[in-house]
Amino acid sequence: MKSATIQTTEHMSAEPFVVRPYFVGPIRIDPPVVLAPMADVTNGAYRRLVKRIGGPGLMVTELISTMAIHHKSARTMTMFDVTEEQRPLAVQLFGSDPAIMAEAARVAVGEGADIVDINMGCWVPKVCKTGGGAAMMKDEDMACRVVEAIIAAVEVPVTVKTRAGWHYGHLATAGLARKLEEVGVAAFALHARFAVQGHTGNADWNLIREIKQAVKCPVVGNGDIRAPQDALRMLQETGCDGVMVGRAAIGNPWIVRDTVHFLRTGDLLPPPTLDDRIEAALTHVTDLSNTLGESRAVRHLRGQLPQYLRGYHGVARVREAIHGAESIAAVASIFQTAREHLAAADDEFPLDILDTI
Ligand SMILES: Cc1cc2nc3c(=O)[nH]c(=O)nc-3n(C[C@H](O)[C@H](O)[C@H](O)COP(=O)(O)O)c2cc1C
Repeated sequence: MKSATIQTTEHMSAEPFVVRPYFVGPIRIDPPVVLAPMADVTNGAYRRLVKRIGGPGLMVTELISTMAIHHKSARTMTMFDVTEEQRPLAVQLFGSDPAIMAEAARVAVGEGADIVDINMGCWVPKVCKTGGGAAMMKDEDMACRVVEAIIAAVEVPVTVKTRAGWHYGHLATAGLARKLEEVGVAAFALHARFAVQGHTGNADWNLIREIKQAVKCPVVGNGDIRAPQDALRMLQETGCDGVMVGRAAIGNPWIVRDTVHFLRTGDLLPPPTLDDRIEAALTHVTDLSNTLGESRAVRHLRGQLPQYLRGYHGVARVREAIHGAESIAAVASIFQTAREHLAAADDEFPLDILDTI
């Protein structure tokens, strides 16, 4: 089994840390760093970009509605967008009807899913009011029936991404995970917040340690990994088998590569250059245009493209300009203007420099 030790720094414990792969059924997840499922973010174009920059051990699609699959929604079917270089890839499904979930899982496998992941963590009312997402944690027997139906329907491993519980007084994780493991779940990912928290407050990593101690199958920790050092700390503090990176990856496809490198060597890679960032943003939108068409792709990414320049002074002006962009050529021209002025201004936009774009 391949593993790597890393040297200690002030962020780390005195003992060298061993980075090991983990297995989801027969599928080896190496390195144990996972790109989180994020609606409107982790589409095929973005997954290809992350993989090209530096290999995560596993990526997960955005959540896909099993009801929409059942109704053969053409738009939903474009969400799979599975290509060879993305493997291993988990397709995440949400819903609550066992038969429809099972049918959708078969479709997902037909579309190329290596793993079927069930969403038990989404807190948004649109998902929860149908009994899916985090609402599944409220009825554990029902959750088990749904998972059982899916496991019976497909040959690939089935995993669950969950929260700590519905609300603070309802800590579901360890008990529910044990029941689901008995039914046959191959691995869990835990976003260590309660559903009612949404993304507020801090993730409580103690809950990750708790679920890890409760089950035999692999547990992937999730919540508040903002930098590679956080991933190491989570592995060390919770004993989890893998780490999952979410928001830190928005507009920053390098975070996965950087985390893997840090875990393997103890070194931090230099940040991407401005040219790297612009090139990646343009690759992202161009690839997405192949699936959504140009104008939809540009509109879809209006919020995300400026994130590639996060941290640069003046990015608000880029955001404003991209908000009105309708084509890839317009986006490219905005970035080109930004590039010239950033270079001229020694990595800082003069406040009014982007008035022209
Ligand atoms: C924009 C956005 C979309 C998300 N969509 C999903 C989703 O489709 N399925 C899911 O299980 N979690 C989803 N999440 C939750 C993330 O996967 C992750 O659990 C959460 O952001 C906490 O991890 P982080 O602190 O690394 O961001 C989403 C989060 C964000 C910010």
